[in-house]
Amino acid sequence: MTTSPVSPGTQLASRFGLSDRVFAGRAAKRLAATIEEGLETVEAAIAEELGAADPLVDAMSRYLYEAGGKRVRPMLVMLTAQLGEGITPAVRDVAVALELMHLGSLYHDDVMDGADRRRGVPAAHRVWDNSTAILTGDLLLARASRVMGRHGDVAVDLQSETFERLVMGQLHETVGAGEDDDPIEFYIQVLADKTGSLIAAAAQSGAFFAGAGDEYREPLRVYGEKVGVAFQLADDVIDLSANAEATGKVPGTDLRAGVVTMPYLLLKASDKPADVDLARRIDEGAEAIRQGADPSVLDREITELRDHDVTARTQQLALDWTNEAVDALKVLPRGNVREALTRFARQLADRDA
Ligand code: IPE
Ligand code: IPE
Ligand code: MG
Ligand code: MG
Repeated sequence: MTTSPVSPGTQLASRFGLSDRVFAGRAAKRLAATIEEGLETVEAAIAEELGAADPLVDAMSRYLYEAGGKRVRPMLVMLTAQLGEGITPAVRDVAVALELMHLGSLYHDDVMDGADRRRGVPAAHRVWDNSTAILTGDLLLARASRVMGRHGDVAVDLQSETFERLVMGQLHETVGAGEDDDPIEFYIQVLADKTGSLIAAAAQSGAFFAGAGDEYREPLRVYGEKVGVAFQLADDVIDLSANAEATGKVPGTDLRAGVVTMPYLLLKASDKPADVDLARRIDEGAEAIRQGADPSVLDREITELRDHDVTARTQQLALDWTNEAVDALKVLPRGNVREALTRFARQLADRDA
């Protein structure tokens, strides 16, 4: 009798933060082992990419990588590659490049959001400084481009289009909705751009670079983009969570920094006096923090918002987007891969870290 080298849900759950619900059932065991093996090779290749400069630069670029992370994007690449020839060298490179792009964007994002912690450790710009964190992010993006560039125009186009959208999403988030924009629609577009784009790239590129049928590319892109929106909506709920140990972040980071989230937007859309009052206190607190007040001035409002119906509605929206993502998979053959992608999407929207 052959036994699988990895029991599904053990390494994947503990190392990548995704529970064994993704690979539940006996039939999924082999698939889990394949993905786990693929992820090992991706990890080794990333480690190599992060050890290519002098010791100081390597320490900075390895810093967040070694701190943790769920490896959502490489896992999606590995999974959809199973619709074709599996984890080929090109598939592995694309997974490495997309994770490096993600990692680079985290260095930048924490500077922009003024975040104190990431992946359970102080954010890179708190350990070094803003310039160093920005440059380390740039370095990771440059390495991502080099790895992607090995696979021709299609890969380069995919990477540049994805990165352009990610940056547009971050830019629109920074500039904010215009007077003629519906704030909630605008926000969803920001989420699709800043996060959906990269997850969509991961979902479609696994299949594409493994030579799977062209007919899977668009549905997987749609799936990934919707998963990304759901993922970010869930992130908005997690941002308010008191469970800092699980999230590795400070609860209410976005709100304290005046970064718009869906619970806040739903609150702003309400004309109930108590909601108007809470929104006003949040705005005043964020302004006071901007002027140098201690971030704890918003502790009470963060708890109130966490327990407010707008946060439950945001969680429901995350589940709605997940359902739409899963619907896009209908054209895929029934089987383990489709099942794992379905579970993967549901798990991401329902996570607590
Ligand atoms: C965090 O992404 C940044 C977003 C785009 C929401 P992840 O939640 O995938 O971050 P890690 O890689 O697990 O740390
Ligand atoms: C991060 O978005 C998006 C990118 C890095 C492109 P957020 O700012 O919402 O994510 P967290 O909460 O810091 O992980
Ligand atoms: Mg952030
Ligand atoms: Mg951000």
